[in-house]
Amino acid sequence: MKVLIIGGGGREHALAWKIAQSPKVDKIYCTPGNPGMKGVETVPITNLNELADFAVANKIDLTMVGPEASLIAGVADIFRARGLRICAPSKEAAQLEGSKSYAKDFMRKYGLPTAEAQLFTDAASALAYVRCKGAPLVVKADGLAAGKGVTVAMTLPEAEEAINACFSGAFGEAGYSVLIEECLFGEEASIIALCDGKTIIPLASSQDHKRAYDGDTGPNTGGMGAYSPAPVVTDELWKVIDAQVLQPFLKGVQAEKLDFRGIIYAGLMITAQGPKVLEFNVRFGDPETQAILIRLESDLFDALCAVADGKLDQIQLKWSAKPAVCVVLASGGYPGHYEKGRAISGIAEAEATGAVVFHAGTKQSGDKIVTNGGRVLGVTALGDDISDAVKNAYKAVACISWDGMEYRKDIAHRALERVK
Ligand code: AMP
Ligand code: GLY
Repeated sequence: MKVLIIGGGGREHALAWKIAQSPKVDKIYCTPGNPGMKGVETVPITNLNELADFAVANKIDLTMVGPEASLIAGVADIFRARGLRICAPSKEAAQLEGSKSYAKDFMRKYGLPTAEAQLFTDAASALAYVRCKGAPLVVKADGLAAGKGVTVAMTLPEAEEAINACFSGAFGEAGYSVLIEECLFGEEASIIALCDGKTIIPLASSQDHKRAYDGDTGPNTGGMGAYSPAPVVTDELWKVIDAQVLQPFLKGVQAEKLDFRGIIYAGLMITAQGPKVLEFNVRFGDPETQAILIRLESDLFDALCAVADGKLDQIQLKWSAKPAVCVVLASGGYPGHYEKGRAISGIAEAEATGAVVFHAGTKQSGDKIVTNGGRVLGVTALGDDISDAVKNAYKAVACISWDGMEYRKDIAHRALERVK
């Protein structure tokens, strides 16, 4: 079987790595892919119609999509119109990620617990509202803003600044409509599930570290590390999440007649009142996927085909009991300005420790692998328990270096504190 993966980051490397383990898969293509993907053929096509032509011409049996942009642009509709099998929600369903107000309306309509929110389309009303409400508040650009459109404002001036930034075009179109939310407190967890519109199967829980610096401080990033499972999601809480989030989600998908054959990611805040949905993504998380898939014992290719074919009721997933930790190695300065093109050493040595090194922002330059992005590598390891997984991941990290490499030293600290 032939598989096409859209994307080229750490998440897509993890998908390619896991899909390649299926005995049924003999060829994987990835667009644009990355140099870490051994045995994967890279395809330099970005236009989605041309990619569908490629999939037809090369008799691709399954297309899997990593990043949100293609999903929101309607890759599922384009591929399905050509008779191609794809694991991706329709363009309409992808609005659950593409528009925060669409997601909020969906959650309200189907009773999913979430923060209270108001939508504003002009700065003056938004400013008047926050002055009346007072901080803390969360200001969110309605559309896609590359993970930068959310400000958790602990003070009124921060909220005002965020509103002004949105309406002055800092996020383009995405910011001309703004959601102002009640600020929730608690521990976050990521719940990622397979959904074919009839059945929903959650994957192992996980937690990512969005802030750049140790102690969960500093600016928000795409994610500096992740671990799975997230101990905050106890067996008891899983029942609540299923009853209050996953099943109502499925009901909503059916009632709205959305073609949801893909991945749903609920970013949750576990508050004193129970889990609340902070956001939906319609794709795998990055770097959560790296920490999750290394624990999956079942055939991912079979599971993704079942999603695409609407046969998810025939799938059962088996997980390793071993926890996993993924530490992201980033370019100095990320998420702000950083240099590219720095030679990386020690990847093979890191892998020799038993860890898996997923590439995120790398490039082949002659016989060297060089940095080519903010998040460069995701060093991922299993362990007998969470402390062991942390130890194994950082042992592998210690093998790798480049000029300006930065990473967090405290990935999984919340899980470690629980076992102390
Ligand atoms: P989002 O892109 O919506 O996931 O938001 C990014 C991050 O902002 C989340 O992971 C949370 O840490 C934080 N956040 C979003 N919404 C809220 C909220 N209502 N209350 C507190 N923190 C939030
Ligand atoms: N790690 C968060 C995300 O993928 O959106």
